Amino acid sequence: MTTTHRAQAMAGVLVAVLAAPIVAQTRPGASEQEASPDVPPTVVITGANRGLGLEFARQFSAAGFEVIGTARRPDKADDLRSLGVRIEQLDVTDAQSVEQFAAAIGDHPVDILINNAGIGGRVLSIKDMDAARVRHIFEVNCLGPMRVTQVLLPALRAGDRKLIVNITSMLGSIERNTRGGYYGYRESKAALNMFTRSLAAELEPEGFTCIVMNPGWVRTDLGGSQARLSPAESIGAMITVIDGLTPADTGAFFSYGGERVPW
Ligand SMILES: NC(=O)c1ccc[n+]([C@@H]2O[C@H](COP(=O)([O-])OP(=O)(O)OC[C@H]3O[C@@H](n4cnc5c(N)ncnc54)[C@H](OP(=O)(O)O)[C@@H]3O)[C@@H](O)[C@H]2O)c1
Repeated sequence: MTTTHRAQAMAGVLVAVLAAPIVAQTRPGASEQEASPDVPPTVVITGANRGLGLEFARQFSAAGFEVIGTARRPDKADDLRSLGVRIEQLDVTDAQSVEQFAAAIGDHPVDILINNAGIGGRVLSIKDMDAARVRHIFEVNCLGPMRVTQVLLPALRAGDRKLIVNITSMLGSIERNTRGGYYGYRESKAALNMFTRSLAAELEPEGFTCIVMNPGWVRTDLGGSQARLSPAESIGAMITVIDGLTPADTGAFFSYGGERVPW
């Protein structure tokens, strides 16, 4: 079976698996000639120790994926560890940490990369803007996903899905910005969006699908307790969208429910 067929065979499998969990989900379409037993598809999730990343890890794990979740402090990632998933140390602002993470992955195929790790910023007036803080937000929210994507490309090329999902925000939409504020955060997500469009264009000939997704307003440490959605609702909806993605979707900005968001 060709790589294309393998990727196509995988599309749609996740929803079915979520609806009826099975014990050993295999990487769909694995060649019948392969001597080794079927292996599950692999997803890498950054910032998986809490919030949306933890819920991504929980739901992908329940769906039978091999989950590699990253944490800045694996020794403190008790909730992630309780899922029984593989945990790797990663601080996306630290070049050495990123290199060590890439070495730990090695040539293990990665089907899906979810650049989820991020930090917020609630500075509402330009008079309160602190350049050092803005620089740090950019380091985490934009340069972080750029670094991680760069080092994981060989592993993603070896995977079947070739799917990169960058978690953005509605606050990163220039067209939807009518209220302003959130200095640093909005700009970092708009830059992440631009990175994703560039990546989509560059990797399109290789069959990659690179998108950004807005998770909605979700009850996490970042979103706060008043947010509309639970992590389970947001991630459940996003995984349904992710499951249905094809290379024709590359370069798109989706909301968690699958609606297109204007840039
Ligand atoms: N919640 C919402 O309403 C909402 C809305 C729109 C977009 N988003 C986006 O969704 C993503 C996840 O947000 P969340 O709500 O789950 O936030 P969260 O609960 O605050 O979790 C953030 C995660 O990112 C990790 N992280 C922070 N800095 C990092 C770094 N330098 N290197 C590696 N990991 C780092 C954190 O690790 P530590 O525990 O070590 O700090 C944590 O695992 C973010 O990209 C955010 O911008 C969220």
